Amino acid sequence: MKIDPEIPYNELPDILPPKEYWDLATVYKAATTASRRLAELKGRLAAIPNPRIFINTLSLQEAKDSSSIENIFTTNDKLFRAFTVESGADPYTKEVLRYGKALIGAFNRIKAGRELSVELIEDIYRNITDETDGVRDIEVYIGKGRSRVYTPPCCRKVLIKKLDNWLSVANSKDDDIDPLVKMAILHYQFEAIHPFKDGNGRTGRILNVLFLSANRLLDDPVLYLSRYISNNKMDYYRLLMDVTENQKWEEWILFMLRAVEETSKYTLIKVQEINRLFEETKNRIKTEAPEIYSFELVEVLFTQVFCKYSILTERGMASRNTASKYLNRLADMGILEKERMGKEFVFKNIALYELLKE
Ligand SMILES: Nc1ncnc2c1ncn2[C@@H]1O[C@H](COP(=O)(O)OP(=O)(O)O)[C@@H](O)[C@H]1O
Ligand SMILES: [Mg+2]
Repeated sequence: MKIDPEIPYNELPDILPPKEYWDLATVYKAATTASRRLAELKGRLAAIPNPRIFINTLSLQEAKDSSSIENIFTTNDKLFRAFTVESGADPYTKEVLRYGKALIGAFNRIKAGRELSVELIEDIYRNITDETDGVRDIEVYIGKGRSRVYTPPCCRKVLIKKLDNWLSVANSKDDDIDPLVKMAILHYQFEAIHPFKDGNGRTGRILNVLFLSANRLLDDPVLYLSRYISNNKMDYYRLLMDVTENQKWEEWILFMLRAVEETSKYTLIKVQEINRLFEETKNRIKTEAPEIYSFELVEVLFTQVFCKYSILTERGMASRNTASKYLNRLADMGILEKERMGKEFVFKNIALYELLKE
C-alpha cells in the first residue's frame, strides 16, 4: 500500500500484525539462535560476583551508539571524563550522559517490578532530551534532506490511544509469541507512532532493553543493542519504511533478531575481558600493595573509568587523606594515570580505558 508521506499516518494499524507475517519458520529459527546468545550473556553476568561494575561503562557504550544513530556524536574519552567531572563537557556529551542515566534509571524501575506506562515513557523522553513537554500536540515528520518520507500520526489524543494499544501488548504476558519477536514488532510500532517531537529513536531503543528486562531476559542494562543498528543504519531506516509501505515484517524482525544475536556475542566478549582485567588488577594490588587492598577499592576502580577522591570519601571508604594515599599509590604502580581536570585531580584506569576504546 502506498502511504502519502505528506499526511499524518493515522491509519497506522494496531499491533500485533496478522500471524501470517511473523509466524514463520525463518523467524523462529532466528529467534532461537538470538535467545540462546542472550541467555549466554545473562548467565555469564549472573556468575560474576559483582555485575554492577559493568553497568556504568557498558550502558554508556549503548548510549553513545544509540545517540550516534541520531548524529549526536561524542567519544569514549569525553564521555568517561564527563561521567566523573560533568562541568565543561560539550552539549552532545552531556546529552549522551543524560541518555546513560535515563537508561539506568528506567531499567532499575522495571527491574523493581514497574510496568511500562505512558508516564515512564514520557519520563525517559524528558530525561534524554531535557525537554519539558510530553506526547506531542504538533505534527512532525521523518525526512530525508528536506522531503518528507513519513509523517507519523497526529496529535496527542490519537497518539495516546496508539500508545495504549502498544502498552497493552508490551505488558501482556499471555500471548504465545517469542519475546524477541515481540520486541522487534514493538520497536517498529513505537517508531511508527513517533509520539514525541524528537528523541523517538533513542526512547524506542531504551524501551527495547527495558522490554528484555521485563521479560527476565536481561538483568542489567549492559547490552550494546544499538551497536548493530548503528553499524547498519541504512538498513534500519529502509526496513522500518518497508514495514509501513509493504508489510515486510519478516525482513524487519530478522534484522532485529540478528541485532540481538550479534550484540549479545559482542557484549559477552567485553564482559569477559573486563572481568579478566578486574581479576588481574585485584591480584596485582593484593600482592604488590596489600596495605591498601580491599575488594571494594578494586570495585570502585571499575565502576567508572575516571576516579577521583570524592568517589571514595562519598562511599565512606576512606577519609580525604586515605583516598589520596590509595589513588596516588595506584598511580605510582602504573594502574591509574593521574591528571588535572579543571580544579581537581582525576585518575584514569589505564587498562580499562584501553579495553573500551574501539
Ligand atoms: N520510515 C520510518 N518509519 C518509522 N520510524 C522511522 C522511520 N525512519 C526512521 N525512523 C525512526 O525515527 C528515529 C529518529 O526519530 P527522532 O525523533 O529524531 O529520534 P531521536 O531524537 O532519538 O533522534 C530513527 O532512529 C528511527 O528509529
Ligand atoms: Mg532527532
